[in-house]
Amino acid sequence: MNLKTRCRDTWAAVSLRGLAGLLLCSALLTVPAYGQSLAGRWAATGSALANGEVQKGIFVLRQDGDKLSGTMQSLGFMNNVTGKVTGAHFELWEVGSNDPKPFVTGDLVNGELLASQWGDRIVARRATAADEIPRPAYIQPPALHKVKFNGLATTPPMGWNSWNLFAEKVDDQTVRTMADAMVSSGMRDAGYIYVNIDDTWQGLRDAEGNLQPNHKFPDMKALADYVHSKGLKLGIYSGPGPRTCGSYPASYGHEAQDAKMWASWGIDYLKYDWCSAEAIYKNDELQPVYQKMGDALAATGRPILFSLCEYGMGSVEKWGADVSGNMWRTTGDIRDTWDSMMSNIEKQVPTAPYAGPGHWNDPDMLEIGNGQMTDDEYRTHMSLWALTASPLLAGNDIRNMSPVTKSILMNREVIAIDQDPLGKQASPVKDGDLEIWTKPLADGGAAVGVVNLGPAAVEATVNTSDLHVAHPVGKARDLWSHQDVWFIKNLYTATIPSHGTLLLRVRAQ
Ligand code: GLA
Repeated sequence: MNLKTRCRDTWAAVSLRGLAGLLLCSALLTVPAYGQSLAGRWAATGSALANGEVQKGIFVLRQDGDKLSGTMQSLGFMNNVTGKVTGAHFELWEVGSNDPKPFVTGDLVNGELLASQWGDRIVARRATAADEIPRPAYIQPPALHKVKFNGLATTPPMGWNSWNLFAEKVDDQTVRTMADAMVSSGMRDAGYIYVNIDDTWQGLRDAEGNLQPNHKFPDMKALADYVHSKGLKLGIYSGPGPRTCGSYPASYGHEAQDAKMWASWGIDYLKYDWCSAEAIYKNDELQPVYQKMGDALAATGRPILFSLCEYGMGSVEKWGADVSGNMWRTTGDIRDTWDSMMSNIEKQVPTAPYAGPGHWNDPDMLEIGNGQMTDDEYRTHMSLWALTASPLLAGNDIRNMSPVTKSILMNREVIAIDQDPLGKQASPVKDGDLEIWTKPLADGGAAVGVVNLGPAAVEATVNTSDLHVAHPVGKARDLWSHQDVWFIKNLYTATIPSHGTLLLRVRAQ
């Protein structure tokens, strides 16, 4: 089961999480004439995590006619749910999630709930007093202070992350072969340096409280050495709550110890995901909670890039740099669809003033090459991430890339826009179906991206005034056709396919 918290609307893959919050407590209202009520407290059991822990949860359900409501609790998580019953069948949705698919579906069979959550089987029986999920004690976060900048990420971080494609299927061998492919494909030389292990690497804490990796990662230090031998850096994942979003042990109460362990392995990057911290802390405690890990990383003496993942809550862009955050998510999880990709980038627009060398807004990882968008849409994805100076973390199988995927991810002229040392984040101006994003560049020139949001190709005209540069504009570079083009009487016209982007760079003269 998955105890995934809200916000991550896109939470496609991992099945294990949700169990957590299942059963609710009590309260029963009208029972439908055709069957037994689901109201009451249920003890749920899900499948085992890769560290051997069997997921347990408590669902407390209320039923009124065919309507359900209640809570699902699991270690570290508490989700409010609503749902409906049809005969013996029930469906539950997480309150506050935009996911159209039910959180849990199942049937009442012989007095048990036989359910599934994203493919994970859950069995729940009537709970007894002994079925309790312990709630971790509250640990007061530290008083606020400014954590010293770690000197990293002077341009937006670039690399690869396991989550979008592999989710819980990531292991040592996958990471090694991905590191090999980062080199052989040319990704490393194009600037993609970080190889990041996301959730599900964690084992159990030993008697001293040291969190060991699970069987998928037999020797993290050896893996880090291997990745480093390829001229790459290794990233890892945890969170400030007791559990990660995938229900694995996270760093709550072990911040300094975990940071020290990662440094001893040779870890170079930490993605720190809020997840179950939401069941312990209020949103006004986000900053001190992240600061605690910022301090712990600084105390290791190893430069470790700090990536905050809390989906843009609590105006993170205003304080992320103060906790030594090098990047912070501004949105829920991306999915490999046009709507999700565009919605993420548009949510990032208000954060533009806060991006700059050392600290970046992060609209989530790339989906380029994962197969559900068209090539034009993937070119738009890359163009927009570059124009907004967003981190470029590929999320596809680098070992197996089509020539088109390679040409998008490794378009060095587009990467140069992302990596421009001035570090400005473009903002859009709308013009019917067109969106015009302009980014000032360090050389006094600018990049302009014209996105066609409409269903058909359009002829679009860029005016030199769209570029906001101080000098006259003649020649421009089309960064997707790799050709020089000319403005005539301050205008340049081109046909842009549906969901495609015209991306031009103008240099100062
Ligand atoms: C959250 C994050 C994702 C990913 C998963 C892992 O949903 O937003 O990017 O790290 O957790 O469980």
